[in-house]
Amino acid sequence: MSRDKAAHYEKNWRQYDKWYDNHQALYQTELKALEKAMPSGMGLEIGVGTGRFASPLSVRYGLDPSFNMLKLAKKRNINVIQGAGENLPFKNESFHFVLIVFTIELVDDPPLFLKEAVRTLKKDGALILGIMDRDSQWGKFYKQKAAQGKSYSDFSFLTPEEVLEVFKSINVEFEEAFQTLFQPPPDIKDIEQPKRGFGRGGFVVLKAEKIGNA
Ligand SMILES: C[S@@+](CC[C@H](N)C(=O)[O-])C[C@H]1O[C@@H](n2cnc3c(N)ncnc32)[C@H](O)[C@@H]1O
Repeated sequence: MSRDKAAHYEKNWRQYDKWYDNHQALYQTELKALEKAMPSGMGLEIGVGTGRFASPLSVRYGLDPSFNMLKLAKKRNINVIQGAGENLPFKNESFHFVLIVFTIELVDDPPLFLKEAVRTLKKDGALILGIMDRDSQWGKFYKQKAAQGKSYSDFSFLTPEEVLEVFKSINVEFEEAFQTLFQPPPDIKDIEQPKRGFGRGGFVVLKAEKIGNA
């Protein structure tokens, strides 16, 4: 994990969390897409941040390197653990699902990071990723902002196809995808209903099932 990237969230936790209040339609739209993929059972979000997604999705555990982000997640009733996704403090096969939203873009080695997440999944457990598709109009918009040194300059955006390629190497089988954010950036007015698949929406949820043991 890059220290600078983690330090950014440690410093800007308040601003980060407030963004969701100021972009309610966007937030609710992304939440609806994640809801489609959520299984029941004992779950962990890696890179839980302030718990904006974990809390309404009833994810019980949240891990993050940022103490300040976690303080707010704890207030949202998440059991929080400070740490890094590269080295999870959990035994093999602990969780029914692991959720990762807007965090895989920050890590140095996505395959290694996801492999470690899969280690903590029970057999048949679900790995669920939420990403902004780099090739979508939203991905292009944020990439441009990042290039100007504005928000998301710490992100290495991925495409769903790239994530599916990683899935092939880490003991999981791709199950289904949901996409949303069809209205153009920079913000949306109406909450959207997610659709199956990817390729058109800005926000994509990819779900895979663990095959075999840890
Ligand atoms: C863009 S925020 C997303 C937070 C939350 N998932 C959300 O969508 O609101 C990325 C989060 O990942 C955390 N993070 C950065 N590097 C990490 C790592 N190596 N392992 C776990 N979390 C990490 C940051 O501290 C930050 O809280």
